[in-house]
Amino acid sequence: MRYVYLFTAFVCVLTVSILGFRGRTFTHPPMDVFPEWLFPGMKYQPHHVQQTESAFFADGRSDRVAPEGTVASSFGPAGQPLRNDDFLYRGKAADGTFARGFPPVLKVDRRMLERGRDRFTIYCSPCHGSVGDGNGITKKYGMGAVPTYHDDRLRKMAEGEIFNTITYGKGNMLPYADKIAPDDRWAVVAYVRALQRAQTGSVSDVPADHKAEIGLQ
Ligand code: HEC
Repeated sequence: MRYVYLFTAFVCVLTVSILGFRGRTFTHPPMDVFPEWLFPGMKYQPHHVQQTESAFFADGRSDRVAPEGTVASSFGPAGQPLRNDDFLYRGKAADGTFARGFPPVLKVDRRMLERGRDRFTIYCSPCHGSVGDGNGITKKYGMGAVPTYHDDRLRKMAEGEIFNTITYGKGNMLPYADKIAPDDRWAVVAYVRALQRAQTGSVSDVPADHKAEIGLQ
């Protein structure tokens, strides 16, 4: 029984100490755990809070206006200072539709495909499978309805639209813009194309000097 009284008293003290002083105005500054005289530091230096008034500058603003002629910059692939290349950064053609092919500033070569395979293996194959048939490991754990790349709709889809799907995601597929840089997204698109091509190969694609290996003349 003693404990019940003690516990009740404890709860009362706790409730009053936490809630009892809400909304009250104090006239003294609050106690400082790390006082300035003991720990001089940046906390007490004069500083500007952005987008507020300041008596320091003549115009009364804490922010400075950018010098005239300042150009926004963010260096992307191909050393582009502005991300204003719609094809490269958004997969769009001049008329606003999804672009076909690859941005001219990128070179589609073996190095790009290998980079694409690398990124694809990390980010896409868990769901889409390493050959792009939609049978990735996540299927076992309930990730249903991952489409295969090997149907006509996706074979005919513009490269820019695949780029856009990687950037923004679709349905249960997350966006990958924060994980895969634009030039790498194009590398992944190229690799998706390579996977699609690989599934539609025929005997005539086998180079002459390899025909004998698979029993062809
Ligand atoms: C978490 C699982 C998952 C991952 C990882 C994933 N996808 Fe998907 N993807 C899906 C699902 C699910 C759909 C079907 C979305 C829908 O149609 O609602 C899809 C659809 C697509 C489509 C077809 C879009 C369309 O318009 O029908 C493409 C192309 C695609 N993914 C490419 C990729 C690429 C490239 C990557 C890697 C960067 C990737 N996906 C990573 C689950 C995933």
